[in-house]
Amino acid sequence: MLNGAPVRAVGVSPTTTLLAWLRANGHTGSKEGCAEGDCGACSVALVERDAAGKPTYRAFNSCIALLPMFAGRELVTVEGLARCGEDKKQLHPVQAAMVEHYGSQCGYCTPGFVVSMFEAYYRKDCTEPWQVSDQLCGNLCRCTGYRPIRDAAMTALAGRAATPLTAAARTESAPNPDAFARRLQAPVPPPVALDYAAGEAKFFRPTSLTELFGLLSSHPSAQLVAGATEIGVELNKKYKSFPCLVSTEGVPELTRITATKEAWHIGAGATLTNVEEALAGEYPSLAKMLRVFAARQIRNRATLGGNLVTASPIGDSAPILLTLDASVVLATARGERTVPLADFFTGYRKTVLQPGEIMREIVLPRGGPVAGLTRRVDFFKVSKRRELDISIVAAAFRVDV
Ligand code: FES
Ligand code: FES
Repeated sequence: MLNGAPVRAVGVSPTTTLLAWLRANGHTGSKEGCAEGDCGACSVALVERDAAGKPTYRAFNSCIALLPMFAGRELVTVEGLARCGEDKKQLHPVQAAMVEHYGSQCGYCTPGFVVSMFEAYYRKDCTEPWQVSDQLCGNLCRCTGYRPIRDAAMTALAGRAATPLTAAARTESAPNPDAFARRLQAPVPPPVALDYAAGEAKFFRPTSLTELFGLLSSHPSAQLVAGATEIGVELNKKYKSFPCLVSTEGVPELTRITATKEAWHIGAGATLTNVEEALAGEYPSLAKMLRVFAARQIRNRATLGGNLVTASPIGDSAPILLTLDASVVLATARGERTVPLADFFTGYRKTVLQPGEIMREIVLPRGGPVAGLTRRVDFFKVSKRRELDISIVAAAFRVDV
């Protein structure tokens, strides 16, 4: 579904990016700037489920997302926002605020900013200036300057409480004239099974671990893919080919986040935004790391397991997880083993994962230090700018006193 209407794609290579497909099919509002997830000009929104399974919008970078990932799902692009309201002729309030505050000059970045603000507009947890900065840090503007854009965002978000449109949106049972808010009152089904091929290239989306292991055994060279925030860059910038992709997005065991009294169990394919929603309150140091871990659009698609299995020395999640005594559950069709995260990495981009083995979940023990001690855990990152930058050094410390 694209902006409320069904669309059908047949015979398109599975590694076609969503942005390339949109633009080739007349939806040219979304722009290509960097083609690697850094500038946000290509931002579009997905109707998704949050950490609690509730419907929500998630903005993401369509330049590094692959078309088959959205089979059976609902997308909103900037073209959809411009036909807001019952008469399909109004600007969305975030667009109106951009006009009012002169938030656009050349306009190249504007569709992306507008889609990011659109996500924020329907978030209940985005009100403070720092949250707006966090929401927009994945959108770069070369000519307008950020103050008018931030002013537009703050005005639109403040207007939510004042207008009947949003007052209704915020009480979930009330009837709502805003079609986008109304959409969020209906459940969002999990991604359905997909077996897609075009030419020799294949894209599978299994819906159980058993199916996933079956596919890995019948296609030994298949590559697992979650949000494609790494694979998308490798496609666009390194021209790598991925003839067979197996998506983790439809496997509940890989995407859910659950808790017992003793531990959190985070599916390796859970998005970083969902991890943030579920765990930030209990682990402030983890929240601090995620605040400087890429942009909102990346965190909306990237996964905690993905960040660990790539074993990149700039993967910021590992240090903080080490201080929290995390372990990882590695699984094959034959069984599972639990490995302390401290033993998982064996070198530069190397791990103990064996062929055919996947990371199923990350386990974070709960509870503090032994009785009588107090604990302080903190995270630090040195980078050339605060948001959306690669670490020069990332460090986490835990001290029990
Ligand atoms: Fe820059 Fe997609 S084109 S993030
Ligand atoms: Fe020109 Fe933002 S208005 S890049």
